[in-house]
Amino acid sequence: MPTIKIKDLEFKKIITAAKIDEKVMELANQINHDYKDKAPVFLPILNGSFMFASDLMKAVKIPCRVSFVKISSYSGTASTGQLKTLIGHDESLFNQDIIIVEDIVDTGLTLEKIIEELRGLGAKSVEAITLLRKQPAREKKIDVKYVGFDLENEFVLGYGLDYDGLGRNYTDIYTAL
Ligand code: IMP
Repeated sequence: MPTIKIKDLEFKKIITAAKIDEKVMELANQINHDYKDKAPVFLPILNGSFMFASDLMKAVKIPCRVSFVKISSYSGTASTGQLKTLIGHDESLFNQDIIIVEDIVDTGLTLEKIIEELRGLGAKSVEAITLLRKQPAREKKIDVKYVGFDLENEFVLGYGLDYDGLGRNYTDIYTAL
């Protein structure tokens, strides 16, 4: 099986672009059904979810908005340590049905923090969709309504996901050998 090498690591393909396409259609159809009388705001978390969000949005057929956001980490006061906050949302999120779009949920800490922040902004409803979910998120029963593929604990890249900033451009998903 052909592998790719990025920096010091070698990766093998585990999910093909065709399988991803199929799954994206399936997830979009669920959203088309669940939100048929609503106009949700999709909130893709950059950078990792750009490719997934783009394909998903093309398959979503209900009226909807999209606003790409980032998580900024900055040092807070000595007592609070690292704080993370959502930046870049241009739409008002008050009273909106929000769907957070993630590439991968690992420990779920990032997602939990975002959900808490969105509730604080007065969102009407907050759900999440992720293409990939790792074992720790399943163990912690992190609340993700739409999940593409479940993984164990392996490191993956491609289709938006990176290894040290590299590898986001591949259309398939790879895991380290
Ligand atoms: P969490 O807060 O532990 O759920 O981390 C989620 C974030 O970690 C994702 O949005 C990714 O940016 C990054 N991440 C976690 N696992 C991987 C991986 O296997 N490959 C690339 N990025 C990952």
